[in-house]
Amino acid sequence: MSLDSLQSLFLEELKDVYHAEKQLVQALPRMAKAAGSPELQQAFTNHLAETKGHVVRLERIFKDLGEAARGKRCKGMEGLIEEGKEIMQEDGEEAVIDAALIAAAQRVEHYEIAAYGCLRTYAQLLGHQNAVGLLEQTLSEEEAADEKLTAIGEGSVNADAAAAGSGAED
Ligand SMILES: [Fe+2]
Repeated sequence: MSLDSLQSLFLEELKDVYHAEKQLVQALPRMAKAAGSPELQQAFTNHLAETKGHVVRLERIFKDLGEAARGKRCKGMEGLIEEGKEIMQEDGEEAVIDAALIAAAQRVEHYEIAAYGCLRTYAQLLGHQNAVGLLEQTLSEEEAADEKLTAIGEGSVNADAAAAGSGAED
């Protein structure tokens, strides 16, 4: 496929994010299991359900375009998930590991926010109105997930992580 039109770029980017979402469906249960904070576990579990919905929305967009729902290897998400796995293999203080999981998950969200923001704009320019609506719904869920992670980090996890190892924890 050559990038000779915005339509071909739109399709390439859809395939990329489709593979990214499918990788996340595999990774999020492991992240939920690795999280110590019940709130963080819940956030990962909730986002897993949303992520499955993101896959379905992308499949609807492919269908509307008359294209097969097929992913294209998303090396960016592979790398981000690989870094998440490294964190999960570390021993350490629970709050510090949670803080690291939040940082890894926020990298994932920002990556997806960038992808969906571009896709939404391309869909608008190409006049794919259904796709615009579907992409916007997913984009808002990614943004909400990112904000939720910030709230959990700022709520207690980061402060607990700061106290860990300093003898200040109770
Ligand atoms: Fe997603």
